[in-house]
Amino acid sequence: MNFHGRTILVTGGGSGIGLGLVKRFVQAGATVIASGRREHALAEARQQVPGLHTLRGDVSTVEGRIALFEQATRDYPALDVLVNNAGIQNRPGPLTQQQPGDWWAGHELELSTNLAAPMHLAMLFLPHLLAKKEAAILNVSSGLAFAPFAFMPTYCATKAALHSFTQSLRWQLKGTAVKVVEIIPPAVNTDLGGKGLHDFGEPLDAYCDDVMKHLAAGDLEFGYKSSEDRRKASREELDTSFRAMNGAR
Ligand SMILES: NC(=O)c1ccc[n+]([C@@H]2O[C@H](COP(=O)([O-])OP(=O)(O)OC[C@H]3O[C@@H](n4cnc5c(N)ncnc54)[C@H](OP(=O)(O)O)[C@@H]3O)[C@@H](O)[C@H]2O)c1
Repeated sequence: MNFHGRTILVTGGGSGIGLGLVKRFVQAGATVIASGRREHALAEARQQVPGLHTLRGDVSTVEGRIALFEQATRDYPALDVLVNNAGIQNRPGPLTQQQPGDWWAGHELELSTNLAAPMHLAMLFLPHLLAKKEAAILNVSSGLAFAPFAFMPTYCATKAALHSFTQSLRWQLKGTAVKVVEIIPPAVNTDLGGKGLHDFGEPLDAYCDDVMKHLAAGDLEFGYKSSEDRRKASREELDTSFRAMNGAR
């Protein structure tokens, strides 16, 4: 995939993996629009990336997604690549020890941000993208889609479901102008889930460079190091990996 002259919307493009890809798309000659909820993160991204466009919005709500779709296609009619990258990760603690109160809200927000948003945005943008000569939808899932961390069951379930949705979408769009790509990160050093919780992850720049190599090669589904191992693993290897991550029961 060549990004020169493309117009790309990256949800969650104001920080982390999204911002890493934004920088590289701009370097490759694309017009890039980063979206997110925090204006200060978007302002900082604009400072770091001259020429970057930004749109403030919340993809966790139906109204937020429709507003983003309408504004993006109105202001950037040439838009031909959607990158569904925005995501959150909660650490809810054991499900057997839910605290009293609105304990479901965090799970609901993870489902709407990580799963409903990429599905709904893909469906909203599809007619627009199908009218282009070449277009693409890039979904950012996770190595945890293949073998879950049991203490983050909802996060892992959203990523497993996003993997499944991406496969179906790719199958449905075969032979059309719209390519469907799944980017499967391993743990990467970002602020996902809160500052300091992913410091052990792969260096962000090395990871984003590798993503760009795969995209340039036209790969449609790829991980990196541990997530590539999981992507290609047998059922038995995934069970071993699950036990190694979570301990035997
Ligand atoms: N880092 C890892 O280890 C890792 C591993 C596997 C997969 N991933 C996936 O990679 C993607 C990017 O995560 P990251 O690691 O780069 O973390 P990050 O730096 O926290 O980035 C997440 C981005 O999503 C945006 N976002 C969150 N909720 C949103 C909402 N409701 N509406 C609009 N934007 C929203 C955030 O911006 P605002 O807060 O300003 O809205 C932020 O820019 C996520 O889908 C994540 O699940 C990450």
